[in-house]
Amino acid sequence: MSGLFITLEGPEGAGKSTNRDYLAGRLREQGIEVLLTREPGGTPLAERVRELLLAPSDEVMATDTELLLVFAARAQHLAQVIRPALARGCVVLCDRFTDATYAYQGGGRGVSEARIGVLESFVQGDLRPDLTLVFDLPVEIGLARAAARGRLDRFEQEGRGFFDAVRHTYLQRAQAAPQRYKILDAAQSLSQVQHALDELLPAIVELCRG
Ligand code: TMP
Repeated sequence: MSGLFITLEGPEGAGKSTNRDYLAGRLREQGIEVLLTREPGGTPLAERVRELLLAPSDEVMATDTELLLVFAARAQHLAQVIRPALARGCVVLCDRFTDATYAYQGGGRGVSEARIGVLESFVQGDLRPDLTLVFDLPVEIGLARAAARGRLDRFEQEGRGFFDAVRHTYLQRAQAAPQRYKILDAAQSLSQVQHALDELLPAIVELCRG
């Protein structure tokens, strides 16, 4: 048996986790076994790495340190949660994965795609998501939603140029491989986004049933 690996991507404030929970509910209604998780994080150790990544600090985190921490958390998450769940035949719905590394460390911090690609192969082997939903949102809306949620984490404190590059990278990756990515307009109301997810549901269920 082999499950299905679905990732949800987009900027802060795009409603990824709300929509992840919604999609999980719709799939479970069809009798499909779903595991919900997120990155960075998803295991106790990886959640500790997440805290290191998100906590604002007086010590500037070197870009390579950030990159390696993201992949260290991912290696743990893959070993403890994602690979076992896929092997059991589960559908894994993961809030962010390696597309976020291309968008944030690549687009945002300027790490080359090739450098990220080396770590991607090292940590994941051939494993890639089967489907990636990109919740696209104009940068100013995302930043305003994040600010309204309260204290900003280390990434949310970045400026406009950083998030322009994040958005651009997500869209570029999605447009380059339309069979794997679906772009959803997250500036719409929640019910409109969920309607768009409902429209994708038959295709997702078909993928799940293999
Ligand atoms: P969030 O999951 O609450 O949106 O926050 C996670 C933050 O971590 C978000 O700002 C994006 C960032 N991140 C990276 O920079 N690289 C990655 O590979 C992942 C998974 C997340």
